[in-house]
Amino acid sequence: MTVRLGIAGGTGRMGGALLAHLHQDSRFQVRAVRVRPGSVPHQTLPEGARLVTTGAELFEDTDVVLDFTSPALTREHITCAKGTKVPLLIGTTNLTQEIWQHLSDASEEVAILVSSNTSLGVAVLELLVEKTAKILKGYDIEILDAHHHLKKDAPSGTAKALLDVIERSLGVPVEAITHKTQRKPQNQALQVGLCSIRAGGILGDHYVIFGSEDEVLTLSHRCLDRRLFAKGALHGALWLRSQLPGLYRMSDALSI
Ligand SMILES: NC(=O)c1ccc[n+]([C@@H]2O[C@H](COP(=O)([O-])OP(=O)(O)OC[C@H]3O[C@@H](n4cnc5c(N)ncnc54)[C@H](OP(=O)(O)O)[C@@H]3O)[C@@H](O)[C@H]2O)c1
Repeated sequence: MTVRLGIAGGTGRMGGALLAHLHQDSRFQVRAVRVRPGSVPHQTLPEGARLVTTGAELFEDTDVVLDFTSPALTREHITCAKGTKVPLLIGTTNLTQEIWQHLSDASEEVAILVSSNTSLGVAVLELLVEKTAKILKGYDIEILDAHHHLKKDAPSGTAKALLDVIERSLGVPVEAITHKTQRKPQNQALQVGLCSIRAGGILGDHYVIFGSEDEVLTLSHRCLDRRLFAKGALHGALWLRSQLPGLYRMSDALSI
C-alpha cells in the first residue's frame, strides 16, 4: 500500500530534494504540496499531487506530513496534526521553547517525529558521541558546524542536538560557550564550545572534538548531497505512519 504524503515547503531546498526523490519512489504518493499563495516549486510535481496554500488542505487525505519550513509554519502544522491525528515529521530547526511545549502536548494525541538531522550517519554520530563523552570524562569538548551562507540559524539544530546528547550522556548540566571568554573550570556546569561557519554552498558538516593535554579525538560527519536528508525523512515517514501517539526521534525510526 502506498503512503500518502503531504509536503510542506515545496519551494524550499529540502522540499525540492524531497520532490526530486519522490518522482522515483513508488512506496509513496504525494497528495499535497504546501507553498505560499502565488508560489510555484522549481521541481515538477509528482503525478496526482496538488499545490495547496493552507494547513487544512495539506493534512487532508494524507497518511504523514513532512515539514521542512520555518518555526512559525511548523507551529501551525503541529496544531493541524493534533486536530486531524495525521502523523507529522518535523525537520525544521530552531524551534522555540514554546513550540517544543506545543509539540510535546500534541504528541499525547498524535505521533510526531522531530529530527534536526534525518541522516543515518548523524544518528550514528550521536551514538558515538554519547559513548565517547562517557569514556573520555574530563576532556574538553568542542562542537563545530559548517553550512551554506543562506542558512538562517546558528548554531545548527544538529549542533544543539549533539549538545543535548552530551548532557544526557553525562547527566550534568551543560553550558554552551563561544570563547568570548575562557573556560571556567570551577563552574558547576560542563562547558562545551560551540562554533559555526557559514560559507558558500557547504551542505552540512559537523565535528565533535574531545581534547586532553595529550590527545585529540575528532568525530565528524559530512553531508555530500541533500537527498541524504530526504531519504532519511522518507524512511522516518514510513515508520511514523503506524506509530501510536508519542514524541519520537530519528533513532527510534532507525531502531538503533
Ligand atoms: N532535519 C534535517 O535533516 C534538515 C536538513 C536540512 C535543513 N533542515 C531544516 O529545514 C528547514 C528548511 O530548510 P531549507 O534549507 O529547505 O530552507 P528554505 O530553502 O528556506 O525552505 C523553506 C521553505 O519553507 C517555506 N516557508 C517558510 N515559512 C513559510 C510560511 N510562513 N508560509 C509558507 N511557506 C513558508 C518557504 O517558502 P518561501 O520560499 O516562499 O519562503 C520554503 O519553501 C530549516 O529549518 C533547516 O534548518 C533540516
